[in-house]
This record gives sequence, C-alpha cells and structure tokens, in this order.
Amino acid sequence: MGADDTRGFVSLDELIRPQAAAGMVAEPDACGCAPATADQAAGCCAAPADQGPVPIETHVKKRYDALAVQGTSTLCCSPTSVYTPEELAEIPDWVLELSSGCGSPMNAIGLRAGQTVVDFGCGAGLDLLIAARRVGETGRVIGVDASMQMVRTARRAAREMGLKNIDVRVGDIRRPPVREGSVDVVMSNCVLGMFPDKKEVLHAVAAVLRPGGVAVISDVVYSDDGPPPADVAAGESAGAEDFARCVVGMTESQYRDLVLGAGFGSVDMRSDGLVSYRDGAQVTSAMIFAYRDDSPARPCC
Ligand SMILES: C[S@@+](CC[C@H](N)C(=O)[O-])C[C@H]1O[C@@H](n2cnc3c(N)ncnc32)[C@H](O)[C@@H]1O
Repeated sequence: MGADDTRGFVSLDELIRPQAAAGMVAEPDACGCAPATADQAAGCCAAPADQGPVPIETHVKKRYDALAVQGTSTLCCSPTSVYTPEELAEIPDWVLELSSGCGSPMNAIGLRAGQTVVDFGCGAGLDLLIAARRVGETGRVIGVDASMQMVRTARRAAREMGLKNIDVRVGDIRRPPVREGSVDVVMSNCVLGMFPDKKEVLHAVAAVLRPGGVAVISDVVYSDDGPPPADVAAGESAGAEDFARCVVGMTESQYRDLVLGAGFGSVDMRSDGLVSYRDGAQVTSAMIFAYRDDSPARPCC
C-alpha cells in the first residue's frame, strides 16, 4: 500500500468531533463519566449540568489521577500480557494494577548499561522500574507524566525498590521538562494515542534525543491489512474517552508518515498484531522506531 493510499480512511481531524478537534470535551464527573453530548450526560452518574467544556488534556489527566487514587486501571493492557514473570518479579502489585501499556518498547529496542532513557507518559512507572535495572547504576531513567497522582505512585515504587537512578517529573510531554539533545532513548507506551495533535508530541520527542538517539513508541493503530473498525467505517468520531483509552484513529502507514514528517531521520514500524485490553477490547498495537539521524546506529555483527 502506498504512503498516501488511505483506503478510504478518514483523516484524524475528521475523526474527531468538532469540540474534540478544537481540543474541547465535556468535563468528567467524579465517577469518571465524560459525556460528549447532552444525551450522554443524562446517563452519567452525576452529570454536571453547568460545567462547560474543558480541554481533552484536562479530561485525560483527571482520568489518570482518578485511576491512580483508585489504585487500579481498567484501561489498556495488563502487564502480564506484555512482560515475562521474570521481568515483573519484585515489582509491587500496586504498580502492576495501574500499568496501562500496549507493548514493551524497551524490549523492542534493548537497553544498555549507562544509557539515559526517558519515558514519555510513564504512568505508575512499571517501565521505569524495569529500565532502571537494565541501564544500571551508571545509567539514568527519567519519567515524565502529567498526572501528579501517577508520578507520586512511580516515585514511591522507585523508593521502595531502592532504585536511585530513577527521576520522575510532573510535566506535559509536549513541553517536556528534559534538556534538549540529552537523551539516548525515548520510550513511550500507549500514550501518543491521547493527543489530537500527535505531531506536536513527536517534535518534542525528537528534540530531547541526542545524536544517534532513538525513540521507541508502542501505540494503538488501525491495521493496514484489515477492514476499518466499525466506528471509522460508519464515519463516527472519537470522543474524550477514546483519547483516554489511546485510540489513535490512524492506520499504521498514516502513523509512519506522520513520524517521518516530525523531524526524524528514519522510521521503522513493526506490527504487534492484536492485543487485549483489560476490559476485553481487542486493538491493534504497533511499535514505532524513530531514529533521530538518517543512519541509525544499529549494533553491528
Ligand atoms: C495509557 S497510560 C500509559 C502509562 C504507562 N506508559 C504504562 O505503560 O503504564 C497514559 C499515561 O499518559 C499520561 N499522559 C496523558 N497526557 C499526558 C501529557 N500531556 N503529558 C504527560 N503525560 C500524559 C497519563 O497521565 C497516563 O499516565
């Protein structure tokens, strides 16, 4: 399939409701209900009558704050479907309960001792904890997340596991609190699907990489091979909760083209096939390898 052959898929902008395209959705209530229309609001447990629309990013942050306080995530994949028992050994149960990835970026790329690694949207920190063991005492792992409650959880886990090479920061990955050109590997696990403007995040990813650096991104996509999902086929659009659930609304090839246009030298993509969300939903996951430079420094021999 050619780069510009989208087989009738609608563009991301067209997928998003008008208010979502403008970055605005309805405010979620205390039980996590996020009505996008008045009709939907009527079905919420405590539908706010007088609250105006708030940015998608606010909805997403509140959703993850609430999950962290609740101590369990219903979103995305269970870590037992992504990692081996050995990798999960000694990780606190409450981190596993909150883990919400859709792949394993660090296993896809392999980490080396001494590397500086940043996790964009680190959540409760599972990937930070595993990565910290791999880069060792001479390496460094930085987590960035917009949810203060998730950051607290990740900091507590690092402290309890005695991992001193982890630094977790509250921040927006579109303007990450990380020095430009300072990072060997950016990993991101099931996060970019939350952004109506993914290119903005991808530019920020490229900016923090040092020469020779690579970004490894696990995300939900629509398969190039299969039929379009029912909502896309029906011309329906993504809502706030779709963003919180990381529904990207892009095919694999659309995603690859987007990454290539975001300041990287070269891009590889691997389809990871269907993965199961905790709530039983089946989605297609892909691993994107985005190299800062034209000639990726792959290990020889
Ligand atoms: C699906 S969870 C994935 C968490 C983690 N990567 C994992 O595998 O468990 C998405 C995470 O992205 C974070 N997030 C959402 N928008 C963000 C933003 N603008 N900046 C930083 N983090 C954000 C959320 O708070 C949440 O922790």
